[in-house]
Amino acid sequence: MADAGDRMEGLAAHDWASEAGKRWLAQLDRFESMIEPIGKALLDQAAYSASETVVDVGCGGGWTTRQIAGAVGNTGFVLGLDISPDLVGTAQERARRAGLANIRFERGDAATAMPKEAPFDRLFSRFGSMFFPEPYPAFANLRRMLRDGGRLDISVWAPIAENPWQREVMAVIKRHIDLPAPLPRAPGPFALGEQDYVIDLLQSAGFSDIKFDAWTGDQRVGGPGSNSESAASFVLDGMQIGDLVRASGSEVHEAIYLSLVQLFDRNRDDDGVCMGAKAWLVSARS
Ligand SMILES: C[S@@+](CC[C@H](N)C(=O)[O-])C[C@H]1O[C@@H](n2cnc3c(N)ncnc32)[C@H](O)[C@@H]1O
Repeated sequence: MADAGDRMEGLAAHDWASEAGKRWLAQLDRFESMIEPIGKALLDQAAYSASETVVDVGCGGGWTTRQIAGAVGNTGFVLGLDISPDLVGTAQERARRAGLANIRFERGDAATAMPKEAPFDRLFSRFGSMFFPEPYPAFANLRRMLRDGGRLDISVWAPIAENPWQREVMAVIKRHIDLPAPLPRAPGPFALGEQDYVIDLLQSAGFSDIKFDAWTGDQRVGGPGSNSESAASFVLDGMQIGDLVRASGSEVHEAIYLSLVQLFDRNRDDDGVCMGAKAWLVSARS
């Protein structure tokens, strides 16, 4: 079995300003189609009104930012804020092509940035708030981006134990590579899975009226219409764990690819690979 322990630090770093941003961009349409149902549920929860001002934190390629621009209309405004220059460039281009005038994108670290339009009425983030190395000061900064009485709506993944689409992929990979257990709450997709921790973060930042809704549904690994082979390639090319797999050599890579294909063969329906997922839709008042 290959030993990947000495490379875990790099895995945990989630270098969104550089490699992770490029990786997300290279698979942007697949990622966005996988999490579209959660985006729609969070947008329904937020229920934006005309004329509101909104900041979309960690906006990525800007799909949710464009939806919000439509919901707040020309008397409203939305800012997409993201640390990845590559994703901000694509988000700008997609908004330009959509002909949206009430939208702006800014490259910045949401842990410290204060966009010129702040304070906003609303703050939104689909899976963009789990990567802060120092979450307490970062969430205090998010609070400062909002006016008093403003509202936050974010989605975060529930714990990996409740997300078979990730838990089972990692279990397959662990059969081939010796991975140390991830540190609890370490920056990453599952950093904000524990409700008590999220409540403490939000309360410490000055938020109140904190509510959680569970979203449960399917993750179509590799996007709707994927087959077992394309889903396995998506995991190895698009997800950060793929770096460790590649670094373990071509034989290990091939063995993991084949094991993932077998996993996805057991989790198929007519519309592709389909595995269970759970996220929290969180709202709070500033
Ligand atoms: C999982 S992606 C989600 C992208 C987008 N919200 C979506 O749902 O399509 C996480 C995003 O958060 C951004 N991000 C991570 N850390 C950030 C930070 N400190 N400040 C701003 N953006 C950040 C990444 O660049 C990436 O675009």
